[in-house]
Amino acid sequence: MEIRKIGVLGAGAMGGGIAQVAAQTGFDVILSDVDLAYVDRAIGKMDSFLAKSVAKSKISAAEKDAVLGRIERTTGLDSFADADFVIEAIIEDLNIKKEAFSKLDGICKPEAYLTTNTSSMSITLLAAATKRPDKVVGMHFFNPPPLMRLVEVIRGYSTSDETVRVASGVAAKMGKTAVEVKKDSPGFIVNRILMAQFIEAIKLLEEGVSSMEDIDQAVKLGLNYPMGPFELQDYAGVDIGYHVANYFCEEFKDSRWNPPLVLKNLMRAGRLGRKTGAGWFDYSK
Ligand code: 3HC
Repeated sequence: MEIRKIGVLGAGAMGGGIAQVAAQTGFDVILSDVDLAYVDRAIGKMDSFLAKSVAKSKISAAEKDAVLGRIERTTGLDSFADADFVIEAIIEDLNIKKEAFSKLDGICKPEAYLTTNTSSMSITLLAAATKRPDKVVGMHFFNPPPLMRLVEVIRGYSTSDETVRVASGVAAKMGKTAVEVKKDSPGFIVNRILMAQFIEAIKLLEEGVSSMEDIDQAVKLGLNYPMGPFELQDYAGVDIGYHVANYFCEEFKDSRWNPPLVLKNLMRAGRLGRKTGAGWFDYSK
């Protein structure tokens, strides 16, 4: 089956960015969230990015209109009935994701593939919520999806070779490089490495070894990373890092993944999400 129509569930930073990339690379897209206001906000962001591309003569105004015209806005799941391929990008809560997969399984046509953009969670568990576990696969994009070149394609226990091949093909058509993650292991490749770096950076701050600014600067200049670990945690969402660390603790039963105190206190103080900025500093004292 040729993949023509992609359903994206969740219109946050990841879902909205994935929908943009899919529409820009010629797929028909259904973008859904619980409230149309979230979908419209995502479309608004795409509109302004694409307007900049038009202003720089990277694309024509007609191309911009064509991209936005390929995206159907919706709430709920009913419109996913004719999707060939679904990418779930909702909140990182296993039970909510399992419920979404079970509902998608009931609504989507039997030949459709169901994929998840989870940062760390078990593909096998999500697949088990469906009657088509062979057609369920992880498809982990990176933030911001329009600019980041990688997609991790993760096999669940029952994922078929065909499903891995189709997901890798979709990633390639989206202009991304796919790497295959052969085992359904928490955090896959990148987030396992990234989490270790985040935890060590916070420990360096807690131990007073260096300041947040100097740790960021050291990593940027010494490792040639575009962002330092604190800048990147603010950018990706401090709460996401916290949830991933806790998930690793539960799954690996290894205390090295314990969220550091600064991170716990940021969560307890409700200093969540992006641009916590000075919050890191306050709690390091
Ligand atoms: N759509 C289309 N074009 C876009 C765009 C969008 N959404 N966003 C930016 N652009 C364009 C800009 O207009 C600009 O175009 P130009 O070259 O013609 O001016 C070009 O892309 C570059 O944009 P910026 O100048 O804003 O980009 P930077 O060079 O400053 O890089 C960055 C920004 C890519 C965010 C870079 O800082 C970076 O790579 N940071 C690290 C990001 C990272 O590590 N992400 C992974 C996080 S972990 C993760 O996602 C996993 C998850 O599970 C948590």
